[in-house]
Amino acid sequence: MIYLSPSILAADFSKLGAQVAEAESAGVTRLHVDVMDGHFVPNLSMGAVVVEGLRPITKLFIEVHLMVEEPAKFTPAFIDKGADLVIVHQEVLEDARPLLSDIKKRGIKTGMAINPNTPVETLVPYLPLLDLALCMTVFPGFGGQAFLPYSPERIGKLRQLIEEHNPQCDLEVDGGIDANTVGLATRAGANVLVIGTGIFRHPRGIGAAVRELHDLL
Ligand code: DX5
Ligand code: ZN
Repeated sequence: MIYLSPSILAADFSKLGAQVAEAESAGVTRLHVDVMDGHFVPNLSMGAVVVEGLRPITKLFIEVHLMVEEPAKFTPAFIDKGADLVIVHQEVLEDARPLLSDIKKRGIKTGMAINPNTPVETLVPYLPLLDLALCMTVFPGFGGQAFLPYSPERIGKLRQLIEEHNPQCDLEVDGGIDANTVGLATRAGANVLVIGTGIFRHPRGIGAAVRELHDLL
């Protein structure tokens, strides 16, 4: 099963609730919330208050992508506000195991992301503890960037490692995914697709974008 995860970073924040409702009624089952601290990435975005605002208005599975230097400082707040899965970056954690088990103890799912220049093998020690592994297909920080052409090879390697170490784990991709690149990502082994610009800024609207992508999958 392949899932779309619309990234609200590309949404119109003057009508965020309505846009999320539109994606939900078009048939998506999850939502991606990009959190940036201005240190790990050169941009700022949103905090737990956004999850707090969305939680009562949607049934969607909410995943929070923490592009921050100190994820442990923030995971409890996102979990309290209703996140279903929290994704931390491998690059900022010397040993991520205590944080991953803390997230699990608090009753939600765990994810770990790697940047395009981080070897996929660095995820191996964590795979047994993960519900989702995220292979970035752009350098994080901004929406609307182009899918990096060497990504399919990395996705394929990660798929192999997941099959060896924890076949239950989802393989997510994030950055530059749209109708043109979705096939490259899924053929390489991705099964959860983060899409910001390709859904929230689609010229024919959110519903049409979701239907077009579902037809392609
Ligand atoms: C990049 C973020 C992405 C981004 C994807 O820093 O992690 O989730 O919003 O956006 P698009 O689909 O526009 O590349
Ligand atoms: Zn993201």
